[in-house]
Amino acid sequence: MVKIGVIGLGPIGSMHVDNLIAGKIPGAKLECICEQRPVTDAKYAGIKVYRDVDDMLKNADIDAAIVSTPSFTHFPLGKKVLESGRHVLVEKPVALCTADAEELAKAAESAGKLCAVMLNQRTTPLYARIRELVRGGGLGKINRVSWVMSNWYRPDIYFTSSPWRGTWKGEAGGALINQSIHNIDIIAWVFGLPESLRAWCKYGKYHNIEVEDEVSCVMQFGGDMSATFITSTGEHPGENRFVIAGDKGFAVASGGRLNLTRFKEGSLSEYTANTKYVFGCPETEESVEEFDGIGPQHVGVVSNFVAAIEGREPLDYSCREGELSLQLANAMLLSSWKNADVSLPIDGAEYKRALDEKIASSVLRENPKTDFIVDFKKSFR
Ligand SMILES: NC(=O)c1ccc[n+]([C@@H]2O[C@H](COP(=O)([O-])OP(=O)(O)OC[C@H]3O[C@@H](n4cnc5c(N)ncnc54)[C@H](O)[C@@H]3O)[C@@H](O)[C@H]2O)c1
Repeated sequence: MVKIGVIGLGPIGSMHVDNLIAGKIPGAKLECICEQRPVTDAKYAGIKVYRDVDDMLKNADIDAAIVSTPSFTHFPLGKKVLESGRHVLVEKPVALCTADAEELAKAAESAGKLCAVMLNQRTTPLYARIRELVRGGGLGKINRVSWVMSNWYRPDIYFTSSPWRGTWKGEAGGALINQSIHNIDIIAWVFGLPESLRAWCKYGKYHNIEVEDEVSCVMQFGGDMSATFITSTGEHPGENRFVIAGDKGFAVASGGRLNLTRFKEGSLSEYTANTKYVFGCPETEESVEEFDGIGPQHVGVVSNFVAAIEGREPLDYSCREGELSLQLANAMLLSSWKNADVSLPIDGAEYKRALDEKIASSVLRENPKTDFIVDFKKSFR
């Protein structure tokens, strides 16, 4: 049995705790919780609760910890857990910048422990299918990708009820590093990282926040592939439409469906080069794949972490995997700040210096609003 301590009992930490208590994670046992606020919920009676991470790491009999505290604490707490000789799984984002993610990966290597990241949307069957199609060559050479992910709507209370959300100090970004980190992780997971990108961010356009709540980005990949990514936390209903234009097929993912158009007689480029019909188009075959589930999500990631600790599975969601979306999020912000193209991988030290300047004049909210209602299941898109 892998004995786990969960640090941070906000909405997501509570979900991890509840999943462990419900026995949803094979081979794992909830040993304790660490939460700096008083824990009064009766369902946690009987579970050892620490108020301080150092106290937990010194005294608790745990093999691993899940860090589900505010984003700016992931790196220092993750490192602390590793240095105490335990495995760690940190919530997304793995850190605020690639330089810190790199340091965390190195800390795990030198401690000989696992460092995992909550990349739960990789378990979404629709995205796994897209990856299989693209990587398996089912769509041929990919020419263009477009993902408009603008249904991450959040009202003001989402930010004002929290000390850290929507601030440079608390999360070093907004729509990119918090909500869309999942989508840009899928882009990197399916297509790899681009060679360069150019992004335009709007800061506090819809909300009274320091960070970005609307982003438009163009990416250039090797092999002449380009991609556009648009995200927003200010539109409603917005849309989630992921389009992939390949030489053998055209795929549109939207509303839990994958619409596939395949070219009956081979590739589009062959047809383009050889047809005699001036206004001709190739013959196509259409199919629709329906995906009615979101897959195992957080339970899947924690289960893999535990299985990797026990040596039953390789670690699928490592810190280095978590760095990919951070590369993209950091590069998009850097591009917007510099008003210029940015090459990837970014210079982590340069980004960290630029971020530190933002953080220097940023403040956590001193009196977050307390009159709010959380319906956490509605947060997932
Ligand atoms: N993977 C996902 O689907 C998903 C969903 C929601 C949030 N998240 C991530 O999880 C993190 C937490 O989000 P949240 O909405 O639950 O935040 P939150 O602010 O509502 O809750 C965080 C909790 O951690 C506690 N805490 C903070 N520092 C602590 C410390 N040093 N020791 C002990 N407890 C401490 C706070 O008191 C609070 O109860 C964020 O980084 C967010 O990006 C991930």
